[in-house]
Amino acid sequence: MAGYETHTYDVLVVGAGGAGLRAAIAAAAQGARVGLVCKSLLGKAHTVMAEGGAAAALGNVDDRDNWRVHFADTMRGGAYLNNWRMAELHAQEAPARVRELEAWGALFDRTPDGRILQRNFGGHRYPRLAHVGDRTGLEMIRTLQDHSVYEPKISVHMETTLITLLRSGNRVVGGFGYEREKGGFLLFRAKAVVLATGGIGRAFQITSNSWEYTGDGLGLAYRAGAELMDMEFVQFHPTGMIWPPSVRGLLVTEGVRGEGGILKNSEGRRFMFDNIPPLYQSHTADNPEEGWRYTQGDKNARRPPELLTRDHVARMIMREVKAGRGSPHGGVYLDIAWIKEKLPNAAAHIQRKLPSMYHQFKQLADVDITEQPMEIGPTMHYMMGGIKVDAESQMSTVPGLFAAGECAAGLHGANRLGGNSLSDLLVFGNRAGEYAARYAAAAPPLEAADADMKAQADQAAQEALAPFSRSRGEGPFQVQQALQELMQNNAGIVRTQAELETARAGIAELRRRAEHVAVDGNRGYNPGWHTALDLRNLLIVAEAVATAAVQRQESRGAHFRDDFPAKDDGQGLYNSIVARGAGGAMEFRRQPLRPMPAELQQIIEEMK
Ligand code: FUM
Repeated sequence: MAGYETHTYDVLVVGAGGAGLRAAIAAAAQGARVGLVCKSLLGKAHTVMAEGGAAAALGNVDDRDNWRVHFADTMRGGAYLNNWRMAELHAQEAPARVRELEAWGALFDRTPDGRILQRNFGGHRYPRLAHVGDRTGLEMIRTLQDHSVYEPKISVHMETTLITLLRSGNRVVGGFGYEREKGGFLLFRAKAVVLATGGIGRAFQITSNSWEYTGDGLGLAYRAGAELMDMEFVQFHPTGMIWPPSVRGLLVTEGVRGEGGILKNSEGRRFMFDNIPPLYQSHTADNPEEGWRYTQGDKNARRPPELLTRDHVARMIMREVKAGRGSPHGGVYLDIAWIKEKLPNAAAHIQRKLPSMYHQFKQLADVDITEQPMEIGPTMHYMMGGIKVDAESQMSTVPGLFAAGECAAGLHGANRLGGNSLSDLLVFGNRAGEYAARYAAAAPPLEAADADMKAQADQAAQEALAPFSRSRGEGPFQVQQALQELMQNNAGIVRTQAELETARAGIAELRRRAEHVAVDGNRGYNPGWHTALDLRNLLIVAEAVATAAVQRQESRGAHFRDDFPAKDDGQGLYNSIVARGAGGAMEFRRQPLRPMPAELQQIIEEMK
């Protein structure tokens, strides 16, 4: 198209983590020409930070496991706000997707008889996480990349960021963005677009998320008219590094606790035994010995309280810190070295099971985890909310716009179980790619939309370059930093009405500041400019989080209100929806839950 480097595809996939790669493979398998856009280099996706494994009811380690138990665990973990159809599809299809990955070359750890080994994780009743030491996400990306890189129907655009989706009438017909190296604009014509851009962690100060996670897919979708759902549910992983400051927030995999790691306060006490929620009491050990036996595969033992769901564990850690029983740098202790008391070859065992954790602590903190406890604290890790999608096809409320993985909402409800993200990416990445290709095959030709695309691209280009034309203005990093502090302090693990109102007012003020940021230099590899563009999405997702959180006047899953500490099934059984209103302001509504079919309800009752 005149003025811009232009590419034409049937399906444009935005994001090349697990969901994006899997969607690209599925769309190409349907015969679609696929453009795959990724913000950083191919292979460097945040998926690698899901270290501990992919949850799939293979039943290799405990043959009592099956999709029904996985479904019930996922629903309970999500405090029953999950899209039950997504939870059902996920539990049913995850085993096939994991086996497929194995067939494509993923080198999973093995049981003694050669099947895929599975480990324990929080909230999963049986050992369910197919894993590769503590580098599962990395292996998954490597495998998907190997599988897709020789596929001639897939063209990759690395270091490319979309700044707007292009529409014709009410449907999406492509996207417009820039490539980092020279800062040139790119126009993508596409009959369908799959967003697989991951999460929003960079709206918070302490996060396990990498720099790319600025809520791009959510912001793009929102601005294109899509609805966002359940944005109040932000997951704080209980165990991130807290020392030294340069690595604060870096993930310490839940696999440490799955392998027997325990949490202690500064008094040396295992505080997780203090409070076991009623819903989990029948499955949770009330003494250390039984908990240890569970991690060693005793099928008659109940799981240790360190393997309760992440929302609960994170709040228990904060309780210890607030009560003055924390570690020197404001966290608590995670100890895997203690298993020396139980296993003769403990040090070698830890290094084999948790090689990345061993090296991470040794090299970054000078801590030998086979000898010493780790100092850890909660870190913003995952967004349960996101783009509202149809369960079967993953299409959003905007025709032609699909979403999969972390940027989509529904599967995890109010709280995600660890390991469900990797299988989510495989199951729904596959579905999104397949349905997007089918949609594209039936969509009208793009030529009729070219004039609309050009006009929207011109406007987006003009807006994107505006920060260069301001000679005196604040830098974008100051605004991003202020936003991160605001969200961390006022929309974090524990929230109140007053704090959330402070967040909302602060976001409105930061939006005014963002409109006046100035950047220097030229367009090639200019991080200031990129941050100025990211701010738009960051501010949208921050506003959506605060808006939905103010409205939810109860505590459920990852959303804990100090002023409404109880769950309220009378008022709380709804999904939050935010969307851009006709006047441009964010609008909120409550969407009642869809009734669950009797057979699924029965599964939940049976598993209680
Ligand atoms: O702790 C972890 O390894 C993270 C896994 C996940 O978020 O699914």
